[in-house]
Amino acid sequence: MKDIYILAIESSCDETSMSIIKNGSVEIATVVLSQIDIHKNYGGVVPEIASRNHIENITIVLEELLQKANMKTENITAIAVTYGPGLIGSLLIGVQAAKTISLVTGKPLIPVHHIAGHIYANNLEKRLSFPLIALVVSGGHTELVYMNEDYSFKKIGGTLDDAVGECYDKVAKVIGLEYPGGPKVDKLAHLGKNTYNLPYPLNDNSYNFSFSGIKSAVINLVHNEKQKGNTINKENLCTSFQDRITTVLVKKTINALKEYNVNNLIVAGGVSANIGLRERLEEECKKNNINLSFPRLSYCTDNAAMIGAAAYYAYKKGIIADQTLTAKAVDNLYNQKFI
Ligand code: KG4
Ligand code: ZN
Repeated sequence: MKDIYILAIESSCDETSMSIIKNGSVEIATVVLSQIDIHKNYGGVVPEIASRNHIENITIVLEELLQKANMKTENITAIAVTYGPGLIGSLLIGVQAAKTISLVTGKPLIPVHHIAGHIYANNLEKRLSFPLIALVVSGGHTELVYMNEDYSFKKIGGTLDDAVGECYDKVAKVIGLEYPGGPKVDKLAHLGKNTYNLPYPLNDNSYNFSFSGIKSAVINLVHNEKQKGNTINKENLCTSFQDRITTVLVKKTINALKEYNVNNLIVAGGVSANIGLRERLEEECKKNNINLSFPRLSYCTDNAAMIGAAAYYAYKKGIIADQTLTAKAVDNLYNQKFI
């Protein structure tokens, strides 16, 4: 069979990234240009600034990618792009770039849902085995997804309010840690003790999650202690917070694996880099004979390599877009309608 080379673009938030992926799993080259240093001055991503930077970066990233891969656009089979969900202004730059390259080269255009990309970041490590359950934990999503074959996604539960990464970032901000706070909370969590009395968020038998309550509990605790003139032990607060979050995520994931009789678990999204979550899942999966997969650390957060991997399987299913493709700030992974 002829090799399929996909040139993928990801620009849904504050990373301008492009990658060339062969046959859904072999990375030829990837470039990720992060804007974190710009946005951290504002305590979070400023959408308008993000899209302006994508405009400036996108052609630079393309040139660097082709040079790194030692390839020309003529050698590419298809162009893939994250069309959503994400920041609309940021998405539009990637979508316009992809449509332009597709138009100029005459190569097909593959629309990729951002979360499908995060899931397929695991395919760059090891071919996915089905059926599987994916625990999707990012700055915008927290979901349990069932897949019985490639590019077939069934949601079995999800957050009712905040995403887990968003909750990490808010907690980090209230204790004075720089954006993005998730990794910093994770680091401190390994240095402290589980001393603070925080709630276990939506610790029931459903597969849904809720993080706004624990976020408010941390904010109130910090404010109350400040008013009393007490100092917060940041390490202990991070340890206690991470314990509550990982306890509930791991419990519900293992329950879902058992109920659906699945023994393959993949973890996806920015929070899959969390060391506490990795350790707890490793322990539980070992106990329950479950095959566990994480993306490599550099591909837990946003990148185009994962989009190129997902796009290969979308392409095989005939998911193709034309020049009417538009960016979508909000979109459902579970009813892909491009066929
Ligand atoms: O997947 P991602 O790059 O963007 C979205 O699609 O949302 O995820 C970014 C999120 C941020 O909220 C960041 O704080 C969080 O992932 N994150 C972490 C860790 N590394 C990244 N959260 C907790 N622990 C980490 N080690
Ligand atoms: Zn993401």
